[in-house]
Amino acid sequence: MSVLNIVKFPAPVLKEKAEPIVEIDEDVQALIDDMIETILADEKSVGLAANQVGVTRRLIVVELQRYDENRNEDEEEKVREITAIINPEIVSSEGEIIYEEGCLSFPGLHFDVKRAEAVKVTGLDREGNAIELDLNGFGAVLLQHEIDHLDGILFIDRVSWVKRDLIKRKYKRMMQEREDENKPA
Ligand code: NI
Repeated sequence: MSVLNIVKFPAPVLKEKAEPIVEIDEDVQALIDDMIETILADEKSVGLAANQVGVTRRLIVVELQRYDENRNEDEEEKVREITAIINPEIVSSEGEIIYEEGCLSFPGLHFDVKRAEAVKVTGLDREGNAIELDLNGFGAVLLQHEIDHLDGILFIDRVSWVKRDLIKRKYKRMMQEREDENKPA
């Protein structure tokens, strides 16, 4: 297993539509292991889509328990539980929620996005068993964000063009500053 390099905006692969996985073979298993290792390597990561590691296949890994209100405090000590979902699909959605989102492909950027408050998601687990998840709040937001990645849709595409323009300029400035900091004096 290895920690993979995360592709940053504006890499073209982030705008590509990922292909469905037809066979859960060794390559898919290895990709799942590596994506889980990648998310575990960063305490703040809660979700990752295959496009973000440069692979255009329909696979996401998510930490659904992170903001579970029913989770008791002792569980903080527990090992983080990461779920892999192959060919995830939103089959129904309901309501509206505004949530502050971040994205590993946009380091340092956070802003409010409006999405459905509840979703039903279907897909396959790594053994090929059918999964059906009913999620709301944070879990619903997370799944919508990650499944969007598989369709080449980014969280900046989910805000008005005025806001998108401002966010893009802010991001560009942040990336430039980061570059300048890393330049030898
Ligand atoms: Ni993201």
